[in-house]
Amino acid sequence: MSIHMNRKRQIEGTTLVIFGASGDLTSRKILPAIASLWDQEQLPNEFSVIGVARSPLGDEGFRRLVMESAASWDSIGTYIENFHYLQGDYTSISTYQSLTKLLDSIEQTRQTGKSRLFYLATIPSLFGTISSLLGESGLSQSGASGFTRIIIEKPFGNDTSSALKLNSDMHRSFSEEQIYRIDHYLGKETVQNLLALRFSNAIFEPIWNRNFVNNVQITVAEQIGVGHRGGFYENAGALKDIIQNHMLQVLSLVLMEAPALMTAESIQNEKVKVLSAVEIPSIAEVASRTVRGQYVSGVINSEEVKGYREERDVSSTSKTETYVAMRLAVDNWRWAGVPIFIRTGKRMPKRETQVVMEFNRAPHLPFIGGSARQLGPNRLILRIQPEEEIKLVFGAKVPGQDYNIRSVAMNFSYADTFKEVSWDAYERLILDALLGDRTLFLRSDEVIKAWEIVEPIQRAFSDLDFPLYPYAAGTYGPKEASKLLQSTGHYWHNS
Ligand code: BG6
Repeated sequence: MSIHMNRKRQIEGTTLVIFGASGDLTSRKILPAIASLWDQEQLPNEFSVIGVARSPLGDEGFRRLVMESAASWDSIGTYIENFHYLQGDYTSISTYQSLTKLLDSIEQTRQTGKSRLFYLATIPSLFGTISSLLGESGLSQSGASGFTRIIIEKPFGNDTSSALKLNSDMHRSFSEEQIYRIDHYLGKETVQNLLALRFSNAIFEPIWNRNFVNNVQITVAEQIGVGHRGGFYENAGALKDIIQNHMLQVLSLVLMEAPALMTAESIQNEKVKVLSAVEIPSIAEVASRTVRGQYVSGVINSEEVKGYREERDVSSTSKTETYVAMRLAVDNWRWAGVPIFIRTGKRMPKRETQVVMEFNRAPHLPFIGGSARQLGPNRLILRIQPEEEIKLVFGAKVPGQDYNIRSVAMNFSYADTFKEVSWDAYERLILDALLGDRTLFLRSDEVIKAWEIVEPIQRAFSDLDFPLYPYAAGTYGPKEASKLLQSTGHYWHNS
């Protein structure tokens, strides 16, 4: 696992090549992350960036875009000459020939080795083509003086077979060790802390299993709607957009066995093992374990917001889900019989990502004359965002003569405890890719396992008769999602 420290001297004079340089991801995430890394002296002076895109920006236009995107970082002006632009068609070999020349000339001018990091920030359907052409033009090979790596972003395919195809397309030009698949949730400090909590403390391990844990709940609630991303979201939906990647990643960190070492291989092996143990429902079983919903207009923060079907670029008869709740089972010794509930939705009352470990209740309450009616089960709540906290909920005696017991919480808050500033996920991940640390990236087999889990659900959803429940924006999803838990005697914990 990467450790925060000044690693400036460890990073060679690399050239970062961003395909999709005029796009949203580049200006919102990649350029600010680069600027911030420079500001914190994590990157050497010789570090260069080449933006590749179809628009006729030129070096000047690209540098303007860099200044706008990274305006809040002081040193960006100092390094602006390190940014270059190449206009080109991603599907034409001549673009890659020009890129080779530009790379050679930058490396010669700056007298660096040939370390190159390609970042595919384009639409995913171009990943296969770009990596093949990088291969064909000889750019995918690592030379004697430096490394060659490639970063791609989710979605990694659309289903198991397209994900397998993407893997094999990329493997024709790049080895698995050269490929860095980003899931930005793994770059979050609180997600990494799931491992620290579980594997640096002795008190949790003995109770982290079916003998003590009654159920596990993972929630990724978003307050935002689809905004200007309607066109993209229509083909994605909550299942592919959040569950297949971010939620199954969080789930695997919460439920996996302890890795022998904090190395990429050990951690990825354990994640694959637990994902392999997730029971894959048959298409017929999906209906009794899954609730799908779509938001209609409602009120959030006293403001009227529109329904999903009224959003820009969304069909007025859309069947795309903006909410999914599911009951999963993990068939191994640790988790057999423990329901794992997961849910995600847009336009929920508040943004909230959390994991709730709910423990079994005390077998008998010996108190006479008092009341334990307000006593809930013990819970360990791992709050990932926006609050970064860990809460332990337990029973305590209310002051007074009788034994009135009530649930109270003990709280650890990141903000109150640490003065160190949390890094943005992209800063962490780009730096790790530059350092060759693959711990926080996905291996090809993890991606395939995750698709295998969601595929039957995806197929069940494509049946027009599969229920799609409306829920008002500003609520915690359709009431059917509560019934999903009530049927087994459980209920959702909202903060
Ligand atoms: C992205 C999804 O991967 O994650 C978005 O495509 C979603 O739809 C976003 O809003 C959530 O990320 P975060 O970090 O805000 O929880």
